[in-house]
Amino acid sequence: MTGNITFTMIKPAAVESGYTGAILHMITENGFRISALKQLQMTRKDAETFYMVHKDRPFYNDLVGFMSSGPIVAAILEKENAVEEYRKLIGATDPGKALEGTIRKLFAKSVQQNAVHGSDSDENAAIEAAFFFAERERF
Ligand code: CMP
Repeated sequence: MTGNITFTMIKPAAVESGYTGAILHMITENGFRISALKQLQMTRKDAETFYMVHKDRPFYNDLVGFMSSGPIVAAILEKENAVEEYRKLIGATDPGKALEGTIRKLFAKSVQQNAVHGSDSDENAAIEAAFFFAERERF
């Protein structure tokens, strides 16, 4: 069975560039319901914990520094088969490989500054959503 939520973050460079509204518009235009939404700045510790799965990768330290460098916009998105559908909408991790019309093709600057994060599984979507949102912030 496929889940109906995914978690996304609009990353600091995309927020700083003023792309938040355009990205949220693409999300809703593509049939996702935003069930939770907030803007916040992660601490370094938050980013270390969120990306712990990548702790042994060479890009981990830089990624943590970047993700805690400024405000992000976090959201929980609802749609049937949300994880897979959202990954299609955002495109490949490397924007150089992302298809035309995807969020990363339109708004990413690099592999690290790739505009948005999207959960890679239903299990991680639930974990990531719970990392950012209390039950009373979810509608
Ligand atoms: P995200 O979807 O947030 O999940 C993990 C992040 O690690 C990814 O997007 C990129 O921002 C970053 N990342 C993955 N691979 C690389 C890489 N080769 N070099 C730099 N950053 C990377």
